[in-house]
Amino acid sequence: MSVLIRSLGVHIPERRISNEELGKMVDTTDEWIRSHTGIGARHIAADGQLTSDLATDAAKKALLAAEVSAKDLDFIVVATATPDFLGFPSTACIVQDKIGAHGCGAFDIVAGCTGFIYALEIASGMLEARRGKHALVIGAETLSRVTDWTDRSTCVLFGDGAGAVVLSRIEEGGRGICKTILGADGGGAKDLVLVQAERSKSFDRSPAEVPRIAMNGKAVYNFAVKSITVLVERIMHTTMYKLEDFAWIVPHQANARIVQAAAKRLGIPEERFFMNMAEYANTSAASIPLALGEMQDKGMLKRGDLIMLLGFGAGLTYGATVLRW
Ligand code: ACO
Repeated sequence: MSVLIRSLGVHIPERRISNEELGKMVDTTDEWIRSHTGIGARHIAADGQLTSDLATDAAKKALLAAEVSAKDLDFIVVATATPDFLGFPSTACIVQDKIGAHGCGAFDIVAGCTGFIYALEIASGMLEARRGKHALVIGAETLSRVTDWTDRSTCVLFGDGAGAVVLSRIEEGGRGICKTILGADGGGAKDLVLVQAERSKSFDRSPAEVPRIAMNGKAVYNFAVKSITVLVERIMHTTMYKLEDFAWIVPHQANARIVQAAAKRLGIPEERFFMNMAEYANTSAASIPLALGEMQDKGMLKRGDLIMLLGFGAGLTYGATVLRW
C-alpha cells in the first residue's frame, strides 16, 4: 500500500508586480531585491479574490487531472496563513462547497510556510490508516492582503498563489510518500508574526487594525538556513537514501540566498535545489505545490524519481517529506 500525489493543480493570479513597479511604491530597487532575495516579481490576487477562490481553481485543476470526482473525496485540508475569515469558518469548508465535495471532511491547518508539508503528513497519515481513499491537500495564500505595502523590508518578499494535490491510497507499494519529519521551535514564534492576531488581548480592545507581517529578518534567515541543513541531514540519517539518490530537492521558495547558504553548508550543488521564487516570490504554504506544478509542466518530474520537499516558516516550524514520484 502507498499514498501518492496523483495529480497537481495550480492557480497563479494574473496581476504581476515586477521589482521595478514595486520600486515606484516604496524606496527599493530591482538590484537590491534580486541580490538580497533572488526575487524578480510576484503575482497578486485581483480585487475581491479570496484565498478560497485561488484554492478552488487549483483544486478543480488537480481533480480534473486525477480523474477523481469531488464527490469521491474523503477530506480536504487547506494549509493557509491567510484564510478567508479569521478563526472560522475554515477556508477548506468554503472550498468544499465551491467544488461540490458535499459531505466530506474539511479543515485548515496553520503552520506558516511549512503548512503544505504539515498538511501532506496529516492527510497521508489518515489515508494510510484507511480513513479514506482520496484527499485534497491545498496550500493557498493571499499574502498581499496582510502585507504592509509601505514597509520595504517585508513587502518585497511575498506573493499570492495556490497549489493543490489529489492524494490517493493505492494498494501497490513502491511509489508515493516515504518519510516525513515535522518539527517546531515555538521559542522563535515572535520572529515572524501576523500582527492582527495579537490585537484582541483584552475585552476592551482598540478598533481593528490592518493586519501586518512583522519579521525579524536576520533571525528568520538564520533559522531557515539551519532548518534546511538539519532536515537534509536528518533525512539522510533516518533513511537508507544517499544524496545522489534524489532527483530534486524542492525547498520552500522564501529566498534564494537562504537556499544557496544551506546548499553550501551541506556541500550540495545549488542546481539540485529547484527554485522559482524569481517569478512568484514567497507564497508561503503555496510555494512547494507551485514549484512542483512548474516542474511537472516543464517535464522535470519523472515517474520513480526520488524527491525531497523542505519547508520552514512561522511558528517557527520546519518539515521535510521524501516521496517517490
Ligand atoms: N530595498 C532596499 N533596501 C532595503 C530593503 C529593500 N527592499 N529592505 C531593507 N533594506 C535596507 C535596510 O534598511 C538596511 O539599510 P541600512 O543598512 O541603511 O539600515 C539594509 O538594506 C540592510 O538591511 P538588512 O535587513 O540587514 O538586510 P539583509 O541583508 O538582512 O536582508 C532580508 C534582509 C532579505 C529580509 C533577509 O534578512 C532575509 O532574507 N531574511 C529571511 C526572511 C525571509 O525570507 N522571510 C520570508 C518569510 S519567512 C519564511 O518564508 C521562512
